[in-house]
Amino acid sequence: MIDKKTKILITGCGGMLGEAVYNHFKDKCLIFATDIDINEPWLKYLDVTDYKKVEETTKKINPDYIFHLAALTDLEYCEKNMFEAFKVNAMGAENVALVCRRLDIPMVYISTAGVFNGEKEVYFDYDIANPINIYGKSKYGGEMDVKRILKKYFIFRPGWMIGGGPKKDKKFVNKIIKQLQAGTKELFVVDDKMGSPTYTYDLARIIEAVIMKCPYGSYNAVCEGGGTRYDVAKIILEILKLDNKVKIKKIKTEQLKTYVKADFSAPRPNSEKMINIKLKLRGINIPRDWKICLNEYLNKFDWGVS
Ligand SMILES: NC(=O)c1ccc[n+]([C@@H]2O[C@H](COP(=O)([O-])OP(=O)(O)OC[C@H]3O[C@@H](n4cnc5c(N)ncnc54)[C@H](OP(=O)(O)O)[C@@H]3O)[C@@H](O)[C@H]2O)c1
Repeated sequence: MIDKKTKILITGCGGMLGEAVYNHFKDKCLIFATDIDINEPWLKYLDVTDYKKVEETTKKINPDYIFHLAALTDLEYCEKNMFEAFKVNAMGAENVALVCRRLDIPMVYISTAGVFNGEKEVYFDYDIANPINIYGKSKYGGEMDVKRILKKYFIFRPGWMIGGGPKKDKKFVNKIIKQLQAGTKELFVVDDKMGSPTYTYDLARIIEAVIMKCPYGSYNAVCEGGGTRYDVAKIILEILKLDNKVKIKKIKTEQLKTYVKADFSAPRPNSEKMINIKLKLRGINIPRDWKICLNEYLNKFDWGVS
């Protein structure tokens, strides 16, 4: 249950998802938002790899829930810094799970579609994880520790995250927009990677609904629909009314090196498309079609492109 007296400690709240989770919950309960990147006045410093500090902070606050959002999410960085990735993504989750057990409170852990190997076209909540890159392995390590340590947990698996705005969005939408800001007149985008875009505000609403109405467990948590990276880029151009000014060309993953001057060396699953079977079975029909969400997201900010 969440009400005005409920205290929620949030880790990694300065990021893309944290922006939405903070805004969604701040007037519903008491929020203690933390991160290592203090980019907002409402954030306090907490490094989840420091067990002592995590323990001290939770003792002081005595929260009713911990929402664990903190993670290293850059795939190439994780691939090249394996120990750091496991330290933050797996050990950080383990640290938070240990303090939740001590306080006997539920933990919300945000996992990822990246725990699947991508060989199936669509993933259900009940599919077996088998990650193919260090990011996915470290996030799955976190899942396994949470399940081993706790009985009271909610694990959510979102897809390609949409959100955060121009300052915090580190992912695909802002990567495309940065190319548009730089004046590109032709985008090269892969059409051989499928996924389920997930709007941070829809995910925040799912988290609340599941806590209020559903049993502990793991839940796929993506927006409706799905598509390729090319499909997402095409809709971005349409929403920004740039589809007549900027061309978009379909390429294959192996052509990325030739056409895009960025590092995409980490292996990526062919499909990260998911269906929220468990949410649907429990009557949680909150997530909207990703195209509606993308439209809402892009129209919320001035992206400085025309
Ligand atoms: N982004 C996606 O596409 C995506 C998809 C599925 C699931 N997820 C999961 O969703 C959650 C939220 O991710 P997001 O998209 O909001 O990513 P994000 O924008 O990178 O936010 C994560 C935040 O955690 C912080 N952090 C890193 N190391 C930390 C540490 N040791 N202690 C405390 N905070 C630390 C990051 O700071 P720095 O920026 O300084 O590193 C960042 O502010 C993560 O668990 C992620 O794995 C993300």
